Amino acid sequence: MKLEKEENTIMVITQATMDDVEGILSLLKANHISYISEEDKPDGFVTTNFTEAQLEALVMKERGVTIAKEDGKVLSFAMAASWDFWEEWPFFASMIEKLPEFSFEGQVLTRENSYQYGPVCVDKSVRGTGVFEQVFYASLASMRERYPIMATFVNQINQRSYAAHTKKVPLSTLGTFQFNQNNYYLMACSTALT
Ligand SMILES: CC(C)(COP(=O)(O)OP(=O)(O)OC[C@H]1O[C@@H](n2cnc3c(N)ncnc32)[C@H](O)[C@@H]1OP(=O)(O)O)[C@@H](O)C(=O)NCCC(=O)NCCS
Repeated sequence: MKLEKEENTIMVITQATMDDVEGILSLLKANHISYISEEDKPDGFVTTNFTEAQLEALVMKERGVTIAKEDGKVLSFAMAASWDFWEEWPFFASMIEKLPEFSFEGQVLTRENSYQYGPVCVDKSVRGTGVFEQVFYASLASMRERYPIMATFVNQINQRSYAAHTKKVPLSTLGTFQFNQNNYYLMACSTALT
């Protein structure tokens, strides 16, 4: 019975495999600035684009995608990877150049002591339920052995994302920067939080 099946469904937080790529791309598309409706925009949007090859490298080489999955459906993902991985996007190349301008707990950010987390997405159906925090902390734990500092950016007009990353999880705002006339917060936290 459908009801019984729904009651027995368990959400799993795990590292993504290639089997999850289709579901990740579908959730990404639903939240991407290029496709999102004006009505949904105040609840956040994603600006980074991925080809399937980039996503495959992120999953396989970087072991950098944490997901929440229920009944085979990807309901949330958080990306995380080395600056070497991100460098091919002009936005991240610019962020790498700016890293020396920012410090976290007395340490200047470098491409060796930090990695870049994000984008992150939570399906509309499970926002505000704690899935965001679970995926965030699982992603952080997955990088803890590799880096002491997690760094990220939030577009200043994405107030829901800023609220989630300051109120639901304790990121510090290190400063601001601009790219293509958009304004961003540069944010960070210790991977030892987990
Ligand atoms: C950003 C996102 C990951 C956060 O996950 P979430 O489950 O929605 O987060 P929560 O609802 O637990 O927390 C968000 C907080 O922002 C508040 N909020 C909701 N809408 C808001 C808005 N328009 N402006 C400001 N704050 C808002 C919520 O009330 C909540 O705080 P509260 O519980 O104290 O009231 C999710 O909304 C999302 O996937 N959005 C689309 C994609 C995106 O923006 N990703 C991040 C950029 S890469």
